[in-house]
Amino acid sequence: MRDRTGRESLYVPSCRFGLYLALRHWCRPGGRVLMSPVNDDVIFFVVLAAGLRPVQAPLNARHGSIDPAAVPDALWQKLSAVLTTNLYGNPDPAPALRARCDALGIPLIEDAAHAIGSRVPGGRAVGDYGDASVFSLSKHTGAKTGGFLTVADPARRAALEEARDDLLLPSRAGSELAYALRPYAEAGVRGLRLARAARAVPRLLGMAEREAIRMPLRAAELERAVAGAPALGPFHSWVRVDMHTYRITPGAARLRRTVRLLDRLDQRLAAHLDGTRRLLDSPWGSPGTGSVQPLFRVPLLVADRDAAIAALARRRITTGYLYDPPLDDYASELFTDPSPDPAPARWFARHALPADPLKAEQVLAVLRAEGIHPAEGVAAGLVGPHRDGTGD
Ligand SMILES: Cc1ncc(COP(=O)(O)O)c(C=O)c1O
Repeated sequence: MRDRTGRESLYVPSCRFGLYLALRHWCRPGGRVLMSPVNDDVIFFVVLAAGLRPVQAPLNARHGSIDPAAVPDALWQKLSAVLTTNLYGNPDPAPALRARCDALGIPLIEDAAHAIGSRVPGGRAVGDYGDASVFSLSKHTGAKTGGFLTVADPARRAALEEARDDLLLPSRAGSELAYALRPYAEAGVRGLRLARAARAVPRLLGMAEREAIRMPLRAAELERAVAGAPALGPFHSWVRVDMHTYRITPGAARLRRTVRLLDRLDQRLAAHLDGTRRLLDSPWGSPGTGSVQPLFRVPLLVADRDAAIAALARRRITTGYLYDPPLDDYASELFTDPSPDPAPARWFARHALPADPLKAEQVLAVLRAEGIHPAEGVAAGLVGPHRDGTGD
């Protein structure tokens, strides 16, 4: 990762753990962090665990990236950090955010979980702008474990490594075994064409636990956890969702498999780029933030998102990485400052169908066969909510 990014890098067992480490290192508890409301709820809980108050950013309705021009001046003054998302691989406007952060003397932290191969239009790679940038190896590489934190200032690495080692929990034989067995278990049942059983494997191994898009918030318990922040312990039940090993020291088998998958990253990115092109060229594609990126998921914009998900599910294509409703609607002002302009985020969250570029042709065939309509305005390039707040 040092060679790939040109920056000092530190292995972390998950991106969420790396983001916690970065927020603790750069931000004094009690501060406010600008973040995207269309994001994994796990990251929202990471910000709370770091003892920080999330502030939801206004978004661009076309691709869900942060819209810095729509952040009021008074709001910038209240911030102690900015956390980007680079949703599905579409880069946030890092140069503008970097300039703002420099002017305010606050850190920029880049979540590059979805964006390992993305470049900022006319600029550098995602991850090249943040004081800290965190990558997830669960996403593009498909390792289902691990990540990297990279730093702009190499002198920071030693302190971060020490903080990481203090937070890591020892490796557990059971979780290593489950990790090592999972691909064989999945391949085995798939080989037998037992699709329902294949979908049950993650659950059997204790790895899938969401009933709905957003996990239950449990407000009363969360208030108690917030009182105990900054600390990961009180937030464990929220932060571990979808990855119970997020703070566990990796065993040798886990690292070997991760290295093998990381070696194939460039081939995988090329396949993602090819699929992204096909999906963006379709009637449901919305142009991204410049040249085509090897997106991790392509947010197709459809009129009826739930109908599209159901149609895909009938052909055994599962849709993941949905982030609806936006975090301010999910968590309320009890736990977050709301976005100054929530309508574009609501519109995007409702209409975005994250399509796996590796399944581009299958997804497009289903959408065509089932007569799924693009969201209104996509074909004309006029996507987004009306400014009257109706959101459609
Ligand atoms: C935008 C975003 N950031 C960070 C993460 C966390 O990554 P990891 O699972 O490696 O902790 C996720 C997980 O899906 C994500 O969607």
